[in-house]
Amino acid sequence: MADSYQFIIFGATGDLTHRKLIPAFYNLYRQQQLPEKIDIIAIGRRKKDSQLYREEVYASVKKHSRYEVDEESWPEFASKIKYLQFDFRQDEGYRLLKEELHKEAHWIYYLAVAPEYFALIVDKLEKEGLAGKETKNTRVVIEKPFGKNLETARQLNDKINEVFSEENIYRIDHYLGKEMLQNIMVIRFANSLFEPLWNNKHIDNIQIVSSEIGGVGERGAYYDQSGALRDMVQNHMMQLLALTAMEPPVDLETDSIRAEKVKVLKALEMDFQNIDKYVVRGQYGPGQVNGVKVPAYREENRVDNDSGTETFVALKLFVNNLRWSGVPFYIKTGKRLTQKSTEIIVEFKGGAHPVYLAGNKNILPNLLVIRIQPLEGIFLQFNAKRPGTDNFILPVQMDYCQNCQLGENSPEAYERLIHDILKGDATLFTHWDEVEYSWRFIDRIAEAWSREEIAFPNYPAGSNGPLEAERLLERDGRSWWHLEGFHGEHLILKAKGVNNNEI
Ligand SMILES: NC(=O)c1ccc[n+]([C@@H]2O[C@H](COP(=O)([O-])OP(=O)(O)OC[C@H]3O[C@@H](n4cnc5c(N)ncnc54)[C@H](OP(=O)(O)O)[C@@H]3O)[C@@H](O)[C@H]2O)c1
Repeated sequence: MADSYQFIIFGATGDLTHRKLIPAFYNLYRQQQLPEKIDIIAIGRRKKDSQLYREEVYASVKKHSRYEVDEESWPEFASKIKYLQFDFRQDEGYRLLKEELHKEAHWIYYLAVAPEYFALIVDKLEKEGLAGKETKNTRVVIEKPFGKNLETARQLNDKINEVFSEENIYRIDHYLGKEMLQNIMVIRFANSLFEPLWNNKHIDNIQIVSSEIGGVGERGAYYDQSGALRDMVQNHMMQLLALTAMEPPVDLETDSIRAEKVKVLKALEMDFQNIDKYVVRGQYGPGQVNGVKVPAYREENRVDNDSGTETFVALKLFVNNLRWSGVPFYIKTGKRLTQKSTEIIVEFKGGAHPVYLAGNKNILPNLLVIRIQPLEGIFLQFNAKRPGTDNFILPVQMDYCQNCQLGENSPEAYERLIHDILKGDATLFTHWDEVEYSWRFIDRIAEAWSREEIAFPNYPAGSNGPLEAERLLERDGRSWWHLEGFHGEHLILKAKGVNNNEI
């Protein structure tokens, strides 16, 4: 008999459920990737019945799903969803839930709720006998943020660990569900072209950048307590770094991959005594984005008008092991920058033979760019001869744009993640050890910052961030690479001192 599943969403009237979770379920349904026997039990505080809730999610699926709604099959999908109304803080609700749960099913609890409820819900589930180490087939899915620092993360983890064993805890870092993140290991380990060069002999530096055009939007209350370091660097940027720098795992089992990532996070190094030479923080002031005036961060909704929260971080760190010794990893992330993109740029050491260097100012380093979002793909830059009688050398680019070919059909991160949770595969979720070592590193930066006041705002909205971030690389004789977007069929890369017209 096929297994049956009950997927219980706490926070089912919230933004995440409407924009991501239910559309992901619908896309899986359309691809016939949902188990045949599955109920989605949607829990919210607002009073409504299942019929009204289904109508609301219909509108959300119409707006956010990559598949059009198929009117004929919609009622079948909708019939899998049941709405349950209760306040998480009150015990009666858990009794109502108990009546809905079948003993033989797998119970999966998805906590799409504010972090202060994570421990409370887990505790009440246990008290009502709906979870516990001896309760078979239960899993819990925890959204970010996992703690505010190492101490609070540890407290939360201890609480969850009392009720669920590590293999049944799925800590979401939705970046891990993105297609190109999963591709990093394939690009590295399934090509003889890259792996032999993937070390300090051949790589000059690696830049990991995630920029947003948007401001803090409606997330002001949460973001002002968090900031870019905790909201982006501690989780997403550290995962990008770990996948880029890790050693090949002994096999593709969850534990083997996680073990290699943890080794990278353990080996992170920076001179914390001279933090100003390694980390730059910023906060956006008023400015212009695409010709439209936008307010400063401090003027945003539900943000303190004297806020000291950073909306930008750039940093330099090292991975202290045999492979990476001496290679700087530069990380940059921020809001209200000039473009929306996430990419990893691997800059190889200059390898041109001296006979070509004389008289050819256009020789650029080889670059491998892994584009994570919004465009997904791989981009390789190398030098070639310009057609003609002279020996003029041009940097040329080979570009594989994955979602240009697949169009809208590239699966959403949450589809992959929900699929894996149902399957019981935790590879694309963060293990406690990863969370721990990442917080250890981030806490040291936060601690150094807490000792020094900084004058904010220090960059205008719609710019490349604080000038100090440019200096971070200039001091090392390097500069950030900027992907300028598509020009004709080609992506143009620009670094300081390179004239695009000549490229
Ligand atoms: N939104 C995103 O894109 C996103 C991305 C990454 C991570 N996350 C994380 O996902 C979680 C949820 O985010 P969200 O944006 O969806 O939040 P949200 O829109 O504020 O939704 C919160 C949900 O919790 C419910 N709720 C709050 N207090 C409750 C109570 N005492 N009893 C019962 N229900 C209660 C709300 O119900 P009512 O509306 O009925 O009050 C609502 O369904 C957060 O941890 C967030 O950090 C969100």
